[in-house]
Amino acid sequence: MVKMALLGCGLIGQFYTRALMGNRRRDSICIAYSRTQARADALAAQWNIPRTTTSMIEAIHDSEAELVVVAVPNHMHEEAVLAAAAASKGILCTKPLGRNSAEAWRMLQAVEKAGVFHGYLEDLVYPPKTLKALETVQAGALGKILWVRSRETHPGPHSAWFWERELAGGGAIVDMGCHCIEIARNFISKRVRPVEVVCWGATQVHPIDSEDHAVGLVRYENGALGQFEVSWSFRGGMDLRDEISGTEGTIWLNHWLRTGIEVFTAAGSSKYVSEKSESSTGWLFPVGDEASALGYTEMFDDMLTAYETGSTPRETFYDGYVVNAIVDAAYRSIPSKRWEPVQLQQWRGDDQTSADASQELIDKKEEIIKKEVLPDGTTRWIVRNRETGEIKNVAARSD
Ligand SMILES: NC(=O)c1ccc[n+]([C@@H]2O[C@H](COP(=O)([O-])OP(=O)(O)OC[C@H]3O[C@@H](n4cnc5c(N)ncnc54)[C@H](O)[C@@H]3O)[C@@H](O)[C@H]2O)c1
Repeated sequence: MVKMALLGCGLIGQFYTRALMGNRRRDSICIAYSRTQARADALAAQWNIPRTTTSMIEAIHDSEAELVVVAVPNHMHEEAVLAAAAASKGILCTKPLGRNSAEAWRMLQAVEKAGVFHGYLEDLVYPPKTLKALETVQAGALGKILWVRSRETHPGPHSAWFWERELAGGGAIVDMGCHCIEIARNFISKRVRPVEVVCWGATQVHPIDSEDHAVGLVRYENGALGQFEVSWSFRGGMDLRDEISGTEGTIWLNHWLRTGIEVFTAAGSSKYVSEKSESSTGWLFPVGDEASALGYTEMFDDMLTAYETGSTPRETFYDGYVVNAIVDAAYRSIPSKRWEPVQLQQWRGDDQTSADASQELIDKKEEIIKKEVLPDGTTRWIVRNRETGEIKNVAARSD
């Protein structure tokens, strides 16, 4: 049973608390910090949290708390992490780790120097569907992963600070691209180095300095591509989808707007439907267990088991740092309109991926481009002669 100090009682603090303390779970939050006493007290009353405070330092130093859960706005992550590391507490920090990679690097250094447990709370690599898809990919069912497309779009965040570039560190890219980037890294393999990024981003709708819409490509050293699509201008709720494409297969994941329960109501619902839902009449798409569908439940299982057993969780501060470095490259690419290198102070994965040796050979002279069974039932191979470069159809060639 692990006792934790929760910093921040906003939207994510509430989701985290439900994931940690709902369903008769054994771990608990022993102190909650919020800017306003009333908000901390409301959360405490709902979940029987024994202590509340409006002092972040008091929460971090709470004698019962072994771990500190950082769930405050982006501009406060570094201050919170540095104070928790100085107090020798283990730390779980929400996404993005920093507003930029310089902040994230300082946080990584602080936890490693202090020798404290650290986990990066990237929930969207933990939904049960995603864990199943990762297991499938890791078992080789999709062959070599070539392209991972990940999308998070909704009508925009719920709190003022997100919309201020200085406080958030950017707009939709740092807020949601961080999820998409880490999802792609998990499927492509975190051992493979992200090399460069090209990104389009614009402020299409809102009166703000940050981008409210962006699309980016991340090129990995083994040739794989990560694609992120993020928007704060999307209408119709929250669209969370991933597509994984490999030499041997494909996986499509839809996490939110179509999850298997579709409700039509002419009378309407006055209650909360699901995160970022835009309507309460007509067709509605509720979610059975939001904490699990968004990965929070399995994420805390992994984090707290790793803490108790002295092992490393799936997501660490180093992962958060790499994500921030990719986000930084995306922000450089928007004005330059070029591929920008991912600048890492230190790379901890593989140095060089071996040249792709997966190309199947028919014989020494010919290599296969494609094999297809045609409507008449015959099999056609399309092959390329390695010496002459000639490409031709070969009918009914046997395997
Ligand atoms: N899926 C996810 O992992 C996910 C989802 C939402 C938010 N987040 C992250 O969680 C963090 C908090 O986001 P949120 O949506 O809970 O925010 P929120 O605005 O709903 O809540 C913010 C909390 O921080 C406190 N706070 C302290 N100082 C503050 C200040 N100067 N300005 C505003 N609030 C202040 C507030 O009192 C409140 O308790 C952010 O880093 C955000 O990126 C993660």
